[in-house]
Parts: sequence; C-alpha cells; structure tokens
Amino acid sequence: MRAFESSFTLHNGVQMPKIGLGTWQSKPGSETYDAVCLALKHGYRHIDTAAVYRNEYSVGRAVKTSGIPREEVFITTKLPAEIKTYEGALEAFRQSLKKLGTDYVDLYLIHAPWPWNDRNTDYSAGNAAAFKAMEQLYHEGKARAIGVSNFKPKDIAYLLDHCQIVPHVNQIAYFIGLDQSSTIAFCREQNIVVEAYSPLGIGYLLANRTIQEIARKYHVSPAQICIRWCLEKDTAPLPKSVHEHRIVENIDVDFQIKPEDMEILDAIKGDPRHWK
Ligand code: A2P
Repeated sequence: MRAFESSFTLHNGVQMPKIGLGTWQSKPGSETYDAVCLALKHGYRHIDTAAVYRNEYSVGRAVKTSGIPREEVFITTKLPAEIKTYEGALEAFRQSLKKLGTDYVDLYLIHAPWPWNDRNTDYSAGNAAAFKAMEQLYHEGKARAIGVSNFKPKDIAYLLDHCQIVPHVNQIAYFIGLDQSSTIAFCREQNIVVEAYSPLGIGYLLANRTIQEIARKYHVSPAQICIRWCLEKDTAPLPKSVHEHRIVENIDVDFQIKPEDMEILDAIKGDPRHWK
C-alpha cells in the first residue's frame, strides 16, 4: 500500500490517512477550491483546514463536487485560537460546519493554546471549557475525533486532568531542524497521534544543501525528503501546495530513508529561513 493510502489509527479506532493536504495560506475561492479538487483527483483523502484560513467554504465545495463519498474524505478543521469558552466553541463549530457544507467533521482541533497575539497568558481553563464543548460534539457524532494544535505537554496535561477524553491528535509545526522531541514523546505516551504542519518549513527547507544532496542520492526532490522524514518519525505530514505537479509529488514518497541518512537530517538544526 502506498504511504498516502495508509492510515494512522487514532485511539478511538478512527482511521486517519497518513498524508493530508495543508491549506494554510491557500487563498479562499478558486485557489483553494482548485487545489483541493486536484488533490482529491490524485488520490488525497485527507484535507486540513481551519476557520481562520477563511477557506472552509472552498474546501467543502471541492469535496462535494469531487463526487467522492463524504465518508471517504477525512476533513479536519479548527476552532479559532481566541475562542476559549464552551458556548463560543459550539457556535464556532456550527459556523464551520455550515461553511464546509457537511453534517460532521472527521477531526476538530483547538487551533492553539493561546490567542495568537497573547501567547504569554495562561488560558488553561478556557482550553478545558472549549475542549468540553468538543467532547459534546464528539458524543453527538458531529466530530469523529477531537484534539489540539500547537499544544505543549503542559497544555495537554491540563486537559487530561480536567476533561474526559484524551485528545486524539496534536497538530504541531514539525519539520527537519525543529526540535519537537519532548512534545512528541509526551504524545506517544498518551497515545496521541502527532500531525506535522509545515513539513517543508513553509518551503524554506527546500534550499538546504544537505537536504538537496540527500534528495539527489535517492533520486527524489527535497520536498519528498522532508515529507518522508515526517513519516519516518511516525507523524502525519500536511504539505501545502496549490500547484498540481507539487500536489502529485508530495504524495509520491514510497521510499525509505536509511538510518544513516536520517542521522544526517536529524543533525540539521535551527531556523530554515536563515539557511543556505
Ligand atoms: P505552492 O503552494 O505555491 O506550491 P509547508 O507545507 O511546509 O507549509 O510548505 C508550503 C510551501 O512550500 C508553499 O510555499 C508551497 O508553494 C511550497 N511547496 C509545496 N510543495 C512543494 C514542492 N513539492 N516543491 C517546491 N515547493 C513546494
């Protein structure tokens, strides 16, 4: 079975395809609609969006017009990071469902433990309130799985102490050079599947000379090395592209990176925006 056709089994038994199409920074309207149509045409069955991307409507319309049965496509969306109340979360979910034009989502995530412009304040109680709303949505069958994004171990630990359901997923920025080992280890212990957003380092990793050299050795592209690296780390990469040839390339990752080359990739450290 090809990598993008295989799935992670979440701890409630739900199957989540291992590679998803990222849509952060895909413009609402035809750009997102076309990208999702192309992805579905080429075999993707996992699409990641968020209310804050403002492209849920385009994602939903693309899924609908694809003719692929709804239950064959895994759709994730996210609660805006600034909503930290029970009622607020229920209302935001209703709006997301309406825009997506679907009766349920496959995965609903708290987008971040803090509003983007207030990262130093503790929102633990608000996260628990929002997560309780998500538990309700889960019990009502409106979200087949629920989870978090950008959460550190301490943020998840608070939910474990104050809520009933262990999050099924934590979606984090994860790419070559970015150390997320403590979060990943914590998630493994709790049976939480880790999704990797920005697996290409928002594209900056592709200019890295070491990655380029390894890509030549395997006769693949730097992007394919970055995506395969996430799979070797047992995380679910969500590469974003709006170009057909890249959308195709990003799921063509049925090779294995040898342990000695993983070591070389693991030795790359730092912020890819400053690399040459
Ligand atoms: P585009 O959408 O124009 O194709 P990430 O997933 O890490 O956030 O990276 C997304 C960025 O990388 C986008 O700028 C995207 O551009 C670009 N990108 C995606 N796939 C590829 C690829 N296979 N080769 C080169 N660039 C890519």
